[in-house]
Amino acid sequence: MKPSQILIMIFMCCAIACHNSIEKDINISSPNQSNTIHFELNDKGQPLYWVSRYGETIIDKSGLDFEFLEDIQLFEDLSVKSFGTANFEKSWEMPWGEQREVKDVYNELKVKLVNPKNQEIILHFRAYDDGVALRYEFPEIEGLDSLSIAEERTEFQLTEDYTTWWIPGDWDIYEHLYNTTKLSDINALQYANHSNLAQTYIPENAVNTPVTMRSQDGLHLSFHEANLTDYAGMTLKVDTTSLKLTSNLVGSERTKYKVKRELPFKTPWRSIQIADEAKDLIDSRLIVNLNEPNKLGDVEWFTPQKYVGIWWEMHVDKATWDYGMTMNDKGQWEDTGQAHGRHGATTENTLRYIDFAAANNIKGVLVEGWNTGWERWIGFEDREGVFDFVTPYPDYDIKALSEYAKSKGVEIIMHHETSAAPRTYEKQLDSAFQLMNDMGMHVVKTGYVGKLIPKGEYHHGQWMVNHYRKVLETAAKYKVAINAHEPIKATGIRRTYPNAVSREGLRGQEFNAWASDGGNPPEHLPIVAFTRMLAGPIDFTPGVFDIALPTKPNNQINTTLAQQLALYVVIYSPIQMACDLPENYENQPAFQFIRDVGVDWEQSITLNGEVGDYVTIARQERETDNWFVGGITDENERTIDLKFDFLEEGKTYKAVIYKDAKDAHYKDNPTAIDIQDMEIQKDTALSIDLKPGGGFAISLMAVK
Ligand code: NOJ
Ligand code: CA
Repeated sequence: MKPSQILIMIFMCCAIACHNSIEKDINISSPNQSNTIHFELNDKGQPLYWVSRYGETIIDKSGLDFEFLEDIQLFEDLSVKSFGTANFEKSWEMPWGEQREVKDVYNELKVKLVNPKNQEIILHFRAYDDGVALRYEFPEIEGLDSLSIAEERTEFQLTEDYTTWWIPGDWDIYEHLYNTTKLSDINALQYANHSNLAQTYIPENAVNTPVTMRSQDGLHLSFHEANLTDYAGMTLKVDTTSLKLTSNLVGSERTKYKVKRELPFKTPWRSIQIADEAKDLIDSRLIVNLNEPNKLGDVEWFTPQKYVGIWWEMHVDKATWDYGMTMNDKGQWEDTGQAHGRHGATTENTLRYIDFAAANNIKGVLVEGWNTGWERWIGFEDREGVFDFVTPYPDYDIKALSEYAKSKGVEIIMHHETSAAPRTYEKQLDSAFQLMNDMGMHVVKTGYVGKLIPKGEYHHGQWMVNHYRKVLETAAKYKVAINAHEPIKATGIRRTYPNAVSREGLRGQEFNAWASDGGNPPEHLPIVAFTRMLAGPIDFTPGVFDIALPTKPNNQINTTLAQQLALYVVIYSPIQMACDLPENYENQPAFQFIRDVGVDWEQSITLNGEVGDYVTIARQERETDNWFVGGITDENERTIDLKFDFLEEGKTYKAVIYKDAKDAHYKDNPTAIDIQDMEIQKDTALSIDLKPGGGFAISLMAVK
């Protein structure tokens, strides 16, 4: 990794001990002066902030407050003890990512506040050209070792009734469809009542983050958090009358506090991405920039990769995860001798996938259902001590398969379904990762399906945030990268721990196979690109070619085939699944795009897009100089005018264009695709028609 260039200039520091004399206006503006974050104390000595863009207020005066279980008043009767500002101009390199070099340029304001008992807090404000952020620092307090936070009340006072793309503030799962409403019409509780998800716990009219908004004038805001470490996830409570959002932390029924921390500590950043055009939200690197630098150093043992796997066949009901063992009276696992013949993770089936991967420029093979425990998965209350992460079923020869994969230049991707019993998983972490080391495996997909055990904990509370981090840190010691399903939200931790390679945390492709509401509608991904994707890489698992899903009469994929290809470019992840069954890729000319498409990028440029409507992204592959372009639309057809001015002057690219055929439609003619070869240069212009639920993908191979 290149050493980052750092230029730090501290240019102002004041020491004042009276809030009255300086209450107006301590602020910091972003390097190009577009965004300014202002601080003041009100007449009760309580802290406030507001945000302006080009001089116009976009977040009005908003309170900063906490409720503690300790008898302590840290947010009242405060005075400014000192404040200082600093400029930062840095850059850093992504070991894998949407781009190689990331510029990290911002101005920072720190305000030290003190109460009459001489107890201090420090507020950190940062102004970037693509947004603003703030966090709290709690220094040591005499006579106190820790703080127990009953609630954090960081407010965001909006100034107009924004159009908002939101999912409910569920404490357990982010796998919801996005709603598009005015801010004043958000009703997460009503939505929850109509949802058929069993696990949901949504205590307030609150939304999860990232939540994205558009003003009447087209200003875009997206609210999120960065560096969620040893703290509870933040939802945002919505006051639909005053148009105010207030942080509402995920709690636990086992403790009176929502967060407990030893002093001193800092909270996660509360961030607002700000953009005049929707597309600029996607190119913003605010969330990773708010995280700490890489702690792991070189992670060359992780290779960004495409993967296939024994997975979709379970979701479309052609195979099972479990092998057919039961537990006897003594609590021992016994082979019933009646394997029903539908077990997916067999040695034979895995060999088939390894051969398919090796023949098609695919480096990974995921195998789910290889280990014992699946008989007591969904629907069982007591799931502790059930899953075993080192013991394969009798029909799965883990050692021989790993060796065979290696001989073919392929790696098996491990799978750990914890069934939301994290204590069972933690007990086995070392032995499970050691087994991976022994077998030469470097990526594991983890899963947390179901209500958490112990009862009273939630997936997004502090206890689980710490669990997910423990898994990440332990995995790093064994050179293992994590792709978490049912995860904690992405908050840019991948910068600090680049073994956090991907995660789910949304309604993924699997919902199309079995959701009783008919699956993800065509607008889902054009919303996801501007919401969930701002948080970080997504393991969406694209690539379904058999779109009608013949084994699932009530379900189908609500996109065209061309859109499935486009997703390899539009949805970013350093591991991208080609999720369909190998036989469904046979004799399919469109599969060439999946063989060719890159997974690790020198640079990425969002060419156009509107939230919920469409988006087009171009990405340049690292090392090869090839470019790939993907575009998707919602249920509406539209024409996208493309310019290739991002290409290098004077170079010619051999391009293949995969687009919806004239009569393509996601509902009744999804696989109609046109594939065309042509040469493309910097000055080429193209108009491409996208059909309802459609898309296009273009590979541009540099001619040497
Ligand atoms: C839910 C995950 O999202 C899915 O990909 C996986 O197949 C199942 N859990 C089983 O672990
Ligand atoms: Ca899931």
